[in-house]
Amino acid sequence: MARQKWGSRWAFVLAAIGSAAGLGNAWRFPYMAYSNGGGAFYIPYFVALFIAGIPLLMAEFAIGQGLQASAPKAMSKISKNAEFIGWWAVITGAIITFYYNVIMAWIFNYLYYSLGVAWKDDPKGFFFGDFLKLTDGPGQLGGLRLPVVIGLLITWIWIFLILRKGTESVGKTVMWTVPLPVILLILLGIRGVTLPGAATGLNYLFEPNFAKLAEPRVWANAFGQIFFSLSLAFGIMIAYGSYNDKKNDIANNSIITALGNSATSFLAGIAVFSVLGYMAQQMSVPVNEVVSGGIGLAFVVYPQAISLIPGGVIVQSIFGLAFFIMLLTLGIDSAFSLVEAVEASAGDKFKINKKSFLIGFSILGFIFGLLFSTQGGLYWLDIIDHYMGTYALLVVGILESILIGWIFGADKLREYINSVSEIKIGKWFDFSLKFVIPLVLLFILGLTFADEIKNPYEGYPGWALTTGLIVFILVPVLALIFAKMPSKDDKYNIKATEITFEEE
Ligand code: PHE
Repeated sequence: MARQKWGSRWAFVLAAIGSAAGLGNAWRFPYMAYSNGGGAFYIPYFVALFIAGIPLLMAEFAIGQGLQASAPKAMSKISKNAEFIGWWAVITGAIITFYYNVIMAWIFNYLYYSLGVAWKDDPKGFFFGDFLKLTDGPGQLGGLRLPVVIGLLITWIWIFLILRKGTESVGKTVMWTVPLPVILLILLGIRGVTLPGAATGLNYLFEPNFAKLAEPRVWANAFGQIFFSLSLAFGIMIAYGSYNDKKNDIANNSIITALGNSATSFLAGIAVFSVLGYMAQQMSVPVNEVVSGGIGLAFVVYPQAISLIPGGVIVQSIFGLAFFIMLLTLGIDSAFSLVEAVEASAGDKFKINKKSFLIGFSILGFIFGLLFSTQGGLYWLDIIDHYMGTYALLVVGILESILIGWIFGADKLREYINSVSEIKIGKWFDFSLKFVIPLVLLFILGLTFADEIKNPYEGYPGWALTTGLIVFILVPVLALIFAKMPSKDDKYNIKATEITFEEE
């Protein structure tokens, strides 16, 4: 059967931007920038983008497109022993969907709560108490939270519907789920900057503190943010690239994807910090007392700001709806891209029918998601995310860049990229893939690990963190098992020493 193809160049580029632009842009980037030197952070950020993010993105697109294969298949073609790296990437991605979709479920609930501003003037008590009914620690799971379970069910059904017809239905979806959050961010940003106090908030985001650039952590954070934000090392961009024609442009599309993603991050920064500035002024406190990132920003701080917006409940409800629809449409493309990467990999190796796979996987994802939908689920979400989102990404990124850069050969990949792209890339690409990316990721891994030993993550009990660690270790074991299984495709393992334009 012929490999499915994107309907147009824009379907591909929008899907890639959609995967990259996710919750991380809205709640991770602004906070990262704020806490790592404000305006000065953009220096390491753009350095990281150009010397590591864009090259690895190009490499992932190129490997997928050139070998017409998902991550495990592409890697097994480069070296038979490397197939497990691809599985490691996509199994990690699969686990991420299990909890990412629970966050999507919360957002669905908050859409509903926005009507009438259900959190009133105690968004914190509302989120942790009324809504999550959070227990005292990861040792107590408590019961299932029905509203979350319902939201989770809706999310999985939605993802199933989007992926059901592959590139065709994805292409139709991204035409609106990618522009819509951007439009909403612009509207929220315009309202934000016209509120009194907005300028103070924006100062926190843009005022440069150059002294911070001397801290290695700040650089590590910039690179980490770039890798995470571009959805690299999860096999997604490889799978998306594999649905292109071999002659499709690579360099240009990578740059558009990367810049589109960064633009979304900046817009989110402005929309969020202007409102934080307003809120700080209303509460007569300095901005640094109200800033936060992550879950706290989306479900506590921003809702609180909404309660302070002038114009009464109707205006506030509209504001809340706009914010949560923005988050929902921002997140959905990232969520389904992870599932698509798993689906592409299973499809390539085991020739499983797309629909049956999706049904099976959605049910599995829903069941695993129930763990995170309990009253203690938030703790587990946080712990598992710490190991998957941070460590797995780093380790896979290192292995992947070594495999592509050294074993396949960065120069050969560059030749291929240049043979199909409008913009020609230079030798810096080889240097980045072979040295910069693996070394920088190794450095971040070292720093993170050293921190971890000094202060265990968020002060969780040892046994809970060990559980997270066990999950982290089980993934490569499972990956090896998948890699060892025989493929239903007899051309699966045929070695590729270069990329050719002949049809297989
Ligand atoms: N890139 C997404 C974001 O910034 C996060 C993500 C990473 C999603 C990896 C899927 C896979 O939110």
